[in-house]
Formats: sequence, C-alpha cells, structure tokens
Amino acid sequence: MRRAALGPEQWEVSAQGLGCMRMGLARKPTDFADAADVIGHALDRGVTFLDTAQMYGDGYNESLVGRAVRGRRDEVQLCTKFGVIVHPDGTWTARGDAAFVRQSCDANLERLDVDVIDLYYLHRRDPRVPIEESVGAMADLVAAGKVRYLGLSEVTGDELRAAHAVHPITAVQSQWSLFSRGIEKVVPVCAELGVGVVPFAPRGTMKRVAVDGTGAQLPTERAAFSAGLGSLARKYDATPGQIALAWLHQRARVWNVTVVPIPGTTRADHLDENIAALDIVLDDDDLSRLDGPPASA
Ligand SMILES: NC(=O)c1ccc[n+]([C@@H]2O[C@H](COP(=O)([O-])OP(=O)(O)OC[C@H]3O[C@@H](n4cnc5c(N)ncnc54)[C@H](OP(=O)(O)O)[C@@H]3O)[C@@H](O)[C@H]2O)c1
Repeated sequence: MRRAALGPEQWEVSAQGLGCMRMGLARKPTDFADAADVIGHALDRGVTFLDTAQMYGDGYNESLVGRAVRGRRDEVQLCTKFGVIVHPDGTWTARGDAAFVRQSCDANLERLDVDVIDLYYLHRRDPRVPIEESVGAMADLVAAGKVRYLGLSEVTGDELRAAHAVHPITAVQSQWSLFSRGIEKVVPVCAELGVGVVPFAPRGTMKRVAVDGTGAQLPTERAAFSAGLGSLARKYDATPGQIALAWLHQRARVWNVTVVPIPGTTRADHLDENIAALDIVLDDDDLSRLDGPPASA
C-alpha cells in the first residue's frame, strides 16, 4: 500500500483508509468478530488509517475499533470525531464549547482504550460557538498529549482558515466523490494551507450504479453519467466504484492536495477491491470526461 503525507506536519498514513462506521452502530453479538476480521485484514494489506466517531452507535463503534486494534496499536493511525449529540428521536445537535471538547476527548480515549488519539476531528461545527474556541480547546488536548493531530469535518473555507490560525489543521473530512463535489469550494483553501483532504463516501452512489448498471432511478443527467461510467469501468476492467476512487486519487494531483479517501466496508473482498483502485491509471481524456457533470448531489 502506498503511503501519503497529510497536513503541514506531513504525517505519514496509508494512501487509502478504512471507514469503520458500518461495522457496528447498535450492539449485535457478531459485531466484534466481524470488525476484528475486516480490520485485521486491512492492517495486513497496509490499510492503517482507520476512521470512527463517537456518533457511530453512541460510542459503540469506537469500542469495537479499539478492541480490534489491540495488540497492533503501533501500526494504526486511529482517527475519531466528537461534537455531535444524537437525540432519542434521531435528530442531532452540534456541540463544540471548550468544556465539552475536554469532556468528550476523555470519553473517546476510554472507549478506544488508548493513551492517545492520532487524529481528532470536530465532527460538525457548533454554530453557537466560535470555531476558534472549539479548536483552541482541541489544541490544549494536543499540548496535553491526548491527541496528536487535529481535523475538521464538513467546514467552509472561511471556517478552515479561522481554525488553522489557532492551530494547524492536518485534515478536512468531507463528502467527495464523482457525485458530490460541494467540497471543491474548500479544496483550494486546503491546498493553500497544506491541509489534507479525507473524502468520506468516496465511491458515491457506486453501489447502486454497480447493481443496476444504468443508474435508471437517478435523475436523467446523473443516469447518463452513470451509464458512461459503466462503459469506462469495462474499458479499465474495473468496477464503477473503483473508477470513482481512481478519479479521486488522480484528481488530488491536479488540485495539489493530499487526498486519503476512506471507503467504508464490512467485507474483506470489498476492501481488496477498493485497494486495487489505487493501481488504476485513468488517461487524460477519461479524467476530463469524469470532471464534467454531474455536479454536487
Ligand atoms: N464526517 C462525516 O460526517 C462522515 C459521514 C459519513 C461517513 N463518514 C465516515 O466515512 C466512512 C466512509 O463512508 P462510506 O459512505 O464510504 O462508507 P459507509 O457509510 O461505511 O458505507 C459504504 C457502503 O459501500 C459498500 N461498499 C464498500 N466497498 C464496496 C465494494 N467494493 N463493492 C460494493 N459495495 C461496497 C459498503 O457495503 P459492504 O459493507 O457490504 O462492503 C457500504 O454499504 C464511514 O465508514 C465513516 O467512517 C464520515
């Protein structure tokens, strides 16, 4: 597995990560064994950049991931998030005041059962709290040795600049794929500041495209695009999801940013397929074709 250097610190991580969210959101007896299998396989294949969050199963997902990396902690770049409170009715509120930052981190560490979190993200910006306060409190966690690097999820370019002025931000995590390009407004700011980009849902709607082949249920423009993607996938002897991942990796060079996608999977064979996308080299014509519509979903 290739390595990538994230953020101003040039922190070395695997060039592609693993989203662990769906490995367990609500307690099921098989979760731990399944998560440990997939995470063990990922580490064996060199995929060491693991993504979880307090929000996933109200901390349950963090405890699964923490148990799965026990004994192999040194191989892993462990990334988690705080700052979203999910209510019983399923709605959520962002919270980012300094007291909450401190309290959250201790709980994240306990659930993961580690001494330090490698990358700690503010999951969503709290609109009632200046981002400088949230990031200032996160910087205190770095100084205290509880966290190594700081990240933000789904922020604007202005929020990123304000945060980065308080403490270097290593990565921004946002949705980015062929089908969701809103973050491309923020990517130039990441490039300017040397901040890495961690796209979530990087395969976009690939699962559905792969299944129905034509994207028939999608709006017309996207359906046409999906059909084109299918023929491109055949040309490269790949799946549409692999083409989507390859496009992100190659686009990183044009945007002049380090991009480390974190496709989520609960299956070792899907993980292998996603890793193989790193070897696909799209030619310039195909890249430009993929750069065209559809814009953001
Ligand atoms: N910052 C945020 O706000 C935010 C939001 C959402 C997610 N995230 C993070 O980002 C991660 C990645 O997001 P994601 O949408 O890619 O992952 P995800 O939500 O974990 O789900 C990915 C889906 O794609 C399927 N899949 C993956 N590889 C496949 C393959 N090769 N062939 C067919 N199906 C495949 C998975 O099914 P199988 O399990 O069957 O492979 C799963 O249904 C999440 O796990 C989470 O850690 C962050």
